Amino acid sequence: MISYIYIAFFFIATIYALQDEVCPGEESLRDCLKKCKFEGTTHFRSDLEDTAYDNDLGREYNLRVIRYPVAFVHPINNNDVSKAIICGANHNFPVIARSGGHSFESYSIGDKNCTLVVDLINFNKISINKADKTAVVGSGSRLGILYYELNKAGFAFPSGNCPSVGVGGIILGGGEGLLMRKFGMSSDNLVDAEIVLADGTIVENANATRYEDLFWALRGAGNAGYGIVTSLTLQIHEIPKTVTFMDFTYNFNLDSIKLMYQTINKIGRRFDKDLSIIFGFSHPGNVAFVRGTYLGPQNELEKILKNFIEKSKPKEVKYSEGDWFSAIYKNTPYPMNTEEGAKHPRIVPISVKMKSFYVDNPGLSDKGVETLFDFMEAIKKEGCGFYIVAILYAGGEVNEIPRSKTAFVHRGLMYNILTPVSLPLTGGEKCLNRLENFAKEFRKYTSSESYQNLIDKELDNWQERYYVENIDELVKIKLKYDPHEVFRWNQSIPSSSSTEG
Ligand SMILES: Cc1cc2nc3c(=O)[nH]c(=O)nc-3n(C[C@H](O)[C@H](O)[C@H](O)COP(=O)(O)OP(=O)(O)OC[C@H]3O[C@@H](n4cnc5c(N)ncnc54)[C@H](O)[C@@H]3O)c2cc1C
Ligand SMILES: *[C@@H]1O[C@H](CO)[C@@H](O)[C@H](O)[C@H]1NC(C)=O
Ligand SMILES: *[C@@H]1O[C@H](CO)[C@@H](O)[C@H](O)[C@H]1NC(C)=O
Ligand SMILES: *[C@@H]1O[C@H](CO)[C@@H](O)[C@H](O)[C@H]1NC(C)=O
Repeated sequence: MISYIYIAFFFIATIYALQDEVCPGEESLRDCLKKCKFEGTTHFRSDLEDTAYDNDLGREYNLRVIRYPVAFVHPINNNDVSKAIICGANHNFPVIARSGGHSFESYSIGDKNCTLVVDLINFNKISINKADKTAVVGSGSRLGILYYELNKAGFAFPSGNCPSVGVGGIILGGGEGLLMRKFGMSSDNLVDAEIVLADGTIVENANATRYEDLFWALRGAGNAGYGIVTSLTLQIHEIPKTVTFMDFTYNFNLDSIKLMYQTINKIGRRFDKDLSIIFGFSHPGNVAFVRGTYLGPQNELEKILKNFIEKSKPKEVKYSEGDWFSAIYKNTPYPMNTEEGAKHPRIVPISVKMKSFYVDNPGLSDKGVETLFDFMEAIKKEGCGFYIVAILYAGGEVNEIPRSKTAFVHRGLMYNILTPVSLPLTGGEKCLNRLENFAKEFRKYTSSESYQNLIDKELDNWQERYYVENIDELVKIKLKYDPHEVFRWNQSIPSSSSTEG
């Protein structure tokens, strides 16, 4: 699968049996939801005879960390969301939103036991307005079905490559993928949102004219504790019928991988904006690759890449033409290019730890590439999987927008390198320790910034790395909309600047 990180995840995690513990305050929470006539379903942790709670827990993607919420509630409308927030807040439960459950730290089940999870599974409508070139999307939808519906209507939206990722989490936190050099981050294409605030207020138009400050925060930090977003209005883009997918492979040795990085460092920023690429190498499989999508036919792309091929010397060069949807899902291990596949993406939970490093001009040095390669070798020996991939920002639309225009700050950089490590069910600690040591060393070769959607609990100075110069403004806006931190977890934006974690 061309997508981001699936490839290396061959260890499948299982869910531990439910433990029967009652969270303090649980009874009052139940009463509250009953009294205010919460209409959706509620699955409490202490309802032992009920497997619904286990199923809810099983919808979380990353089972490296598992926690037990007091309950999963499934509201059916904004009023319901409001009731859940008020009941949670009044009985002192941290409240958290879950869209697709793909948080790398499983924050959508809280940062400790006994959080109240507001699961947005019922918010899944998608309506497309061709004339306006907008789509209104329920935040509980997933990317696969969104892409499928848009493609059918002749449109596209720039976001991630994995079909099961939730629209809510990825768009509000940025959203990078194989259309970004043309159209920018997902959050750059968010034009309006419906959000329920900490005090239960329903805001139907959190947009640039009505709620300028909140809207600014939602575009890049909207999944960091400002409220529960139930619907997103997106700018969508017309797309040519024929898109070309490229897959270049390189010899799996340090010299040819170095040459690959050197060439991208030199000419990547000059690639046509219609071309978005990711590149890297992985074990298992021992492949080094450059993959991408081009918004046009193969013969055009071949011309654009002539010089790149001469300089970077790939071992094999493959192209295929198709529509945008099939280009994105080329090589997926299951039939994603069908409506059924898009509606019900197979979610195979895994155990994974993610890190991200933005690289500045002039790109990663040879020493930096060596450090990456050595780490991969070390991780291999420990029996863990590794998939290093970078996504090219340079020369793309993302970098045309000023850093403080929205809460998404990472602009003017060359690429984002992700280093996910997939872990076996037991004995993964050695790999995790190695990853932390590697991160300290590798940071010397990169900028100080990291991508907030690749959330990492161990990251030092995370507020600065994720939000940089925008953090003070974000804290102010948090203070205004959620002063008592109803929405709180390890890496939510604090309402005062003294609580750096
Ligand atoms: C397999 C995989 C592939 C990925 N591929 C990409 C990629 O190609 N590009 C990319 O940019 N990122 C990618 N990511 C990272 C992804 O963007 C984040 O994990 C994202 O936050 C997941 O969104 P979610 O709705 O599925 O997650 P959730 O776990 O439901 O939510 C993540 C966080 O956002 C908050 N949140 C969720 N929904 C809402 C809402 N409606 N209102 C307010 N807060 C909310 C949650 O409380 C939680 O803290 C990938 C992740 C995985 C696991
Ligand atoms: C969370 O609950 C589980 C199951 O009861 C328990 O094993 C675990 O220790 C709890 N975690 C914390 C941090 O209390
Ligand atoms: C914001 O919402 C209001 C109310 O619906 C609307 O009148 C206005 O045009 C919207 N502004 C933008 C920039 O979309
Ligand atoms: C995250 O928060 C939980 C409880 O809120 C706390 O127990 C834990 O130590 C925190 N972890 C980190 C890394 O800060």
